[in-house]
Amino acid sequence: MGIFVLFFLVLVPLCEQTWGSRYFTIDYNANCFKKDGECFRYISGSIHYFRIPSYYWRDRLLKMYMAGLNAVQIYIPWNFHEPFPGVYDFNGDRDLIHFLNLTSELGLLVIIRAGPYICAEWDMGGLPGWLLNKKNIALRTSDPDYLNAVDSWLSVLLPMLKPKLYNNGGNIISVQVENEYGSFAACDYNYLRHLLHKFQLYLGKDVVLFTTDGDGEGYLRCGSLQELHATVDFGPGGNATKAFELLRKFQPDGPLVNSEYYTGWLDYWGEKHSTTSKELVSQSLVDILETGASVNMYMFEGGTNFGYWNGADFQKTYKPVTTSYDYDAPLSEAGDPTDKLDKIRSVISQFQPVPQGPVPPPTQKLRYGSVSLKKIGSLVDFLDIFTPSHPVETQYPVTFEDVKQYFGFVLYRTRLPRDVLTPTPLSTCSNGVHDRAYIAIDGVFKGLLERDNVSKILVSGKASDWIDVLVENMGRINFGASFNDFKGLVTNLTLGEEVLTDWLVYPLNLDGPISEGWPHISFSSNDVSTGPSFYSGTLQILTLADTFISLQHWAKGQVWINGFNLGRYWAARGPQITLYVPVNILKLGENTVVVLELEQAPPDPPSVMFIDKPILNSTVYKSKSSLL
Ligand SMILES: *[C@@H]1O[C@H](CO)[C@@H](O)[C@H](O)[C@H]1NC(C)=O
Ligand SMILES: *[C@@H]1O[C@H](CO)[C@@H](O)[C@H](O)[C@H]1NC(C)=O
Ligand SMILES: *[C@@H]1O[C@H](CO)[C@@H](O)[C@H](O)[C@H]1NC(C)=O
Ligand SMILES: *[C@@H]1O[C@H](CO)[C@@H](O)[C@H](O)[C@H]1NC(C)=O
Ligand SMILES: *[C@@H]1O[C@H](CO)[C@@H](O)[C@H](O)[C@H]1NC(C)=O
Repeated sequence: MGIFVLFFLVLVPLCEQTWGSRYFTIDYNANCFKKDGECFRYISGSIHYFRIPSYYWRDRLLKMYMAGLNAVQIYIPWNFHEPFPGVYDFNGDRDLIHFLNLTSELGLLVIIRAGPYICAEWDMGGLPGWLLNKKNIALRTSDPDYLNAVDSWLSVLLPMLKPKLYNNGGNIISVQVENEYGSFAACDYNYLRHLLHKFQLYLGKDVVLFTTDGDGEGYLRCGSLQELHATVDFGPGGNATKAFELLRKFQPDGPLVNSEYYTGWLDYWGEKHSTTSKELVSQSLVDILETGASVNMYMFEGGTNFGYWNGADFQKTYKPVTTSYDYDAPLSEAGDPTDKLDKIRSVISQFQPVPQGPVPPPTQKLRYGSVSLKKIGSLVDFLDIFTPSHPVETQYPVTFEDVKQYFGFVLYRTRLPRDVLTPTPLSTCSNGVHDRAYIAIDGVFKGLLERDNVSKILVSGKASDWIDVLVENMGRINFGASFNDFKGLVTNLTLGEEVLTDWLVYPLNLDGPISEGWPHISFSSNDVSTGPSFYSGTLQILTLADTFISLQHWAKGQVWINGFNLGRYWAARGPQITLYVPVNILKLGENTVVVLELEQAPPDPPSVMFIDKPILNSTVYKSKSSLL
């Protein structure tokens, strides 16, 4: 292979001269990208099609084009497109080719980050949860089981991209291999080489392939590979010249690129909302552009972690990411231009022409007001609907992955083995609740266990009372050394000293029935008990527009409108209080709102509010730093 690659490098300049017109490559002598024979620099923005309804893709891309960008950078999340091994989904909001067609229609170039691992604060960094069916799989290494799954995915994905490469008449100028691999402890060069060969096999040898790593020597050492163009990522406020000098140590020639210039940052539940000032972002952008480097702004629009798609970080403790991925980016979560966008546009205009005419205005947002909700019943009242097959019977608890349910909720049920007259600790061994367990004895909610936080509660009851343990998967870890993040009860539960046995495990398919219109008739229940319960109501609409649903006074749960899973709320922790409701899921007339509240609904009659602005910065919960 080495000889072949060398031969190729020598050939490129010749090809370029003879082919003339449409060609994108790297000129290592001129230290620039060459597009159609001319030195070229991209000023790009990240947008995640999987965090934006397809209905709005064109709108967002047009705004990015009008902001003066000449390229967009996208990740491709493997788990979004291959939900089960060998089952692929590229329809609707997953229609990657439609998205790419739109970028091309709008005259934007595309930089692809094809994974297989992407991080992105996305569930398991984009890797499918089903990889964990092999318990000791070594993710992001040359483990043959991992590579087999990767290879079959790449054999589907990469051929789709090939006709869209710039050199084949499309608008994809470069493709990233893996993602920040230098931050991963394994440092397995054979794995990177394996990926390189697959990418070249399917995309051809003349495509520009690259890697991205943090701007530290340690990162670049394990993340870069000779045949791959190395780029770095760093945020505002640093020293761009210094960061690029470091990159030069590993890559003496070729264009300089910052692949992730941070316009803002993500949010975690229970911490302060992140913001980055527009002055700082635009000043450091000037510094980067003055070096002549190409840059991609991460994010240009962040969007939303709908459904259960958010990831989690692990920094001493498990830290799930909020539903909003607003990122304090130049386009808001709901796609609206901000002052930061204006600043960035005027910076760009100092370096390259920006399109004439204004950036399109914000889309309409409406306050539909209050909608009161009725309790439909406790979640456990509807097990026959959500688990139509028999529950799995096991002596000791099994994981979500064992029952092949990768997202959402699983109910674990057993009986009290004896009379428990005095309050006795029900506890998880070794912090084994992934990630939150809602516990009822004999149908009465008793409280919860939480990963890295609450490991026991006191319970009492009679022999054979049901113990119901509803476990929520709050998002798989997307970054770090060990991210085989199994969900459910990953260790035993004990009552006092006694290990609980003989479990019934119910994989709950909430989204199937709810997307098909459940509950069809409005049940009415006067039951005021707490714990995981469904509520439903009707939003009447005369004029269609985007809106935000406020869950203020609710605790934690999940919301669906017209069967579309808007994502998690956790108003009891914050900082996010509202969920973005895009207009495409609404209709004129009656709209069904379903809320699964896991702890306690507001006092009767419970209601939700539809307002015209997001609340992402509530300080309900004091962050650890502000407690100090
Ligand atoms: C994308 O564009 C190509 C070329 O114009 C067209 O053949 C294809 O049908 C389009 N696909 C989608 C999904 O829009
Ligand atoms: C940035 O780094 C360069 C090269 O290391 C150095 O010469 C320059 O003084 C630094 N600039 C600032 C503002 O610290
Ligand atoms: C731990 O759980 C308690 C009780 O639910 C909650 O008040 C607290 O905020 C949690 N702490 C952290 C760090 O998550
Ligand atoms: C649960 O406890 C049993 C009996 O001590 C033990 O054999 C089993 O491995 C434990 N299971 C887990 C997941 O820890
Ligand atoms: C939250 O954001 C809004 C809108 O940007 C702002 O008006 C408000 O002051 C912020 N509140 C807090 C507590 O930071």
